[in-house]
Amino acid sequence: MNTGTKEGLPKYYEFFNSVKIISGSKALESMSYELELLGAKMPIIITDKGVTKAGLVDHVINSFGGTQVKIGAVYDDTPVDSSNIAVNEIASIYRQQGCDSIIAVGGGSVIDSAKGVNIVISEETDDLMKFAGNNRLTKPMKPFIVIPTTAGTGSEVTMAAVIANPAKNLKMQFTSPLMLPKVAVLDPVMTVSMPPKITAATAMDALTHAVEAYIGPQKNPVSDAFAFSAIEMIYENIESAVKSGSDKDVRLAMANAALLAGVAFANSMCGLIHALAHATGGQCHVPHGVANSILLPYGLEFYIRKSPETAKRIGKLLRFLTTPEDYAKGPVDERSKNTVAAIRGMTGNLNKLCGIPLSLSQAGVTRNELAAIAQATINDGAISFSPVEVSYHEALEVLNQAF
Ligand SMILES: NC(=O)c1ccc[n+]([C@@H]2O[C@H](COP(=O)([O-])OP(=O)(O)OC[C@H]3O[C@@H](n4cnc5c(N)ncnc54)[C@H](O)[C@@H]3O)[C@@H](O)[C@H]2O)c1
Ligand SMILES: [Fe+2]
Repeated sequence: MNTGTKEGLPKYYEFFNSVKIISGSKALESMSYELELLGAKMPIIITDKGVTKAGLVDHVINSFGGTQVKIGAVYDDTPVDSSNIAVNEIASIYRQQGCDSIIAVGGGSVIDSAKGVNIVISEETDDLMKFAGNNRLTKPMKPFIVIPTTAGTGSEVTMAAVIANPAKNLKMQFTSPLMLPKVAVLDPVMTVSMPPKITAATAMDALTHAVEAYIGPQKNPVSDAFAFSAIEMIYENIESAVKSGSDKDVRLAMANAALLAGVAFANSMCGLIHALAHATGGQCHVPHGVANSILLPYGLEFYIRKSPETAKRIGKLLRFLTTPEDYAKGPVDERSKNTVAAIRGMTGNLNKLCGIPLSLSQAGVTRNELAAIAQATINDGAISFSPVEVSYHEALEVLNQAF
């Protein structure tokens, strides 16, 4: 463990994020100016059918009315969970149309695909998979602006993308600071249309990012500050976002919370819970946020059983998940359990509001799939950032409890 003289203060750490953030009602209006600053005027818009159907691409196109910007192409066939086939198809349209920049309008699937397109175009390649892994990129990327339409993945401020290679049945991770978008635009008009279940699932993804960022071995005072603000904003707004989706203040708060959580975990990483969620998504196609929502309390209980130090950190998070009075009232040695209870209270209410599953069986997973999920969990890259070592049998035990 890298803690120095005081809990949470490492002897050494690094923190980096270079994304310009533009947040607010009417933030979209700054798009043409931002493109101009980046020296671009012919962007490709990358999106998906759900986002287009919700009329969100029209908002973006309209924001360029009367400016020098000409939209080179709009690609809206991006699949849920990005694939290298879609990335190559989008890249060839970018080249054919002579585009000079990329605007991603969508959730994590769209944003990660757009990151893949930027790699293929900037590295002048047709083989995205050659660049899978850490720090394999060498060339400067094309101007890249992200407008998230979910409040969850934080991919608008992360240097990572997960892109599937369906021919090989593999999900490949790409990481490089060069992949960071230049600008993230948070405008509540882009998330008011999100259906309640996607709102709940993506918000629980964001909460899991912030919680894992705070308890992981790479935590540091700067990432902690981002994680705390994210958890507090999610606690205060998550139910209203699901209940009253048209409330723009609530939507903007959730978009900020997801971004803050993204900055936190991009620097201090996610652990066991994300490893379990990646494996559950990969094996059984459970949406990423749904998997995190189910697994978060069970993963935390595992940590509490295995590590008193991690339990103490989990207990500290209660400050951001309850009222100050209730936090002060409760016994210190029960705080970690009360953190888990607060999260279960949150997911229980969300289940009543929108039907988000509370167990793996409710999410359509069968018991005979658990062994393969456990195996994929311990092979997942995120497991190396777990604050506690996890064996195959322990991963299987957590999955059985969450079943
Ligand atoms: N790169 C990273 O740092 C990172 C982090 C976490 C997750 N991810 C990846 O992100 C993906 C999941 O992204 P997601 O959870 O944002 O969901 P998503 O992008 O898969 O979108 C889910 C669905 O919601 C619809 N949708 C999105 N916004 C909408 C809106 N405003 N109104 C109506 N419908 C809308 C989409 O059309 C889609 O059908 C996974 O592939 C996951 O691996 C990436
Ligand atoms: Fe995530």
